Amino acid sequence: MYILVIGSGGREHALAWKSAQDESVSEVFVCPGNAGTALENKVSNVLIDINDFAAVKDFCINKNIALVIVGPEQPLVDGLVDYLHSNSIKTFGPSSAAAQLEGSKTFSKDFFIKYGIPTAAYAAFENFDSAKEHLKKISYPTVVKADGLAAGKGVIICQTENEAVEALVSIFKDQAFGDAGTRVVIEDFLIGEEASFIAVVSKDKMIPLATSQDHKAVSDGDEGLNTGGMGAYSPAPIVDEKMHRKIIDEVMKPTMHGLIAEGSPYLGFLYAGLMINNGELKVLEFNCRFGDPETQPILLRLKSSLVELCLAAIDNQLNAYQIQWTDEHACGVVIASQGYPQSYTKNNEVIIKPTDEFGMKLFHAGTRLQGDKVLTSGGRVFCATALGKDLQEAQKKAYDLVESVSFDGAFYRKDIGNKGLK
Ligand code: AMP
Ligand code: GLY
Repeated sequence: MYILVIGSGGREHALAWKSAQDESVSEVFVCPGNAGTALENKVSNVLIDINDFAAVKDFCINKNIALVIVGPEQPLVDGLVDYLHSNSIKTFGPSSAAAQLEGSKTFSKDFFIKYGIPTAAYAAFENFDSAKEHLKKISYPTVVKADGLAAGKGVIICQTENEAVEALVSIFKDQAFGDAGTRVVIEDFLIGEEASFIAVVSKDKMIPLATSQDHKAVSDGDEGLNTGGMGAYSPAPIVDEKMHRKIIDEVMKPTMHGLIAEGSPYLGFLYAGLMINNGELKVLEFNCRFGDPETQPILLRLKSSLVELCLAAIDNQLNAYQIQWTDEHACGVVIASQGYPQSYTKNNEVIIKPTDEFGMKLFHAGTRLQGDKVLTSGGRVFCATALGKDLQEAQKKAYDLVESVSFDGAFYRKDIGNKGLK
């Protein structure tokens, strides 16, 4: 069986690595992939423009691809899955309409209200003046969000009215997020602890994946700018059994049924970003894909076949699927390029000391191969991920693995997993 993974990040390296472990899989192609996927056993990169849907389809037909897994949000929102499904190619991911849950904050906020899903109070605006007027009537801090996709960077937490006006100027006037900023959502600032709840969903059936917690801010102690995520661990103790049930009942089920009622049943990874405070629960956002870096520790813990899981979802067979996890904990630490999430240098050579200790995996993200050299090519460059008998051991092993990598300007947070040890 041949598999195609779409994307080039740490998540896609993990998806490809995991898929390649199946005996029934002969080869995994990754489009466009990174240096890690180029070097991985049974995995190879293909250079097709993923915006050229017809070229992706032709590749799938020529290579007899049995399953396409789409990693990132942009091709999902752009309708790649709809296109491949219409050409009878088995593809795991939501339709463009269902991906609006991530693609548009105003769509998702309206959806939450319509289906009674708990979320922060908000108002949406299409122009600068009315949004600015609204800022006079609210309390601070507040949160200003660009409506569309902004690689995790379109959310601005504002301590004062002045900061919120600046955020509106950058979104509406300076068009810092391009078309993603033609509308904004202004919502109440929530306090609490965040958790990521990710499930494999097929219409009204769902298999929750292991729980996890990401670290969005760039610096230790959750200080500094928001990023795509600086590290994650699994399981997340904040999601205890009671909270797990509450999330399924109050968030996941109403979302699956709401999407069916809207005529857009969901297929794919569905990711709820949650704020939990004293047993209370609110949805910060939905993502229509697996999290990055949550994928890396979660897949290290998955004992079952990812390929079989995705195929069961596509074939509407999730009811019969028994998912299996190791009891071990996993921790993943992102190694980034100095300057990220703002501008950073690229093309720095990476030195990697080989480590082959069991239960440790260095996932590549922003890397590329030049000859036999690995060069940096993105803001988040690696995710050093490890298993341990408990979180403490997983954390220690992940940080040991971080030490095996060096390049100019490398930095990482030193406190990934600490919240889970409290
Ligand atoms: P989002 O893309 O909407 O999940 O926002 C990215 C990050 O911004 C979240 O993971 C939170 O850390 C933070 N954030 C978003 N909305 C809020 C909110 N209403 N209150 C507090 N923090 C928020
Ligand atoms: N780790 C957060 C995200 O994937 O959006």
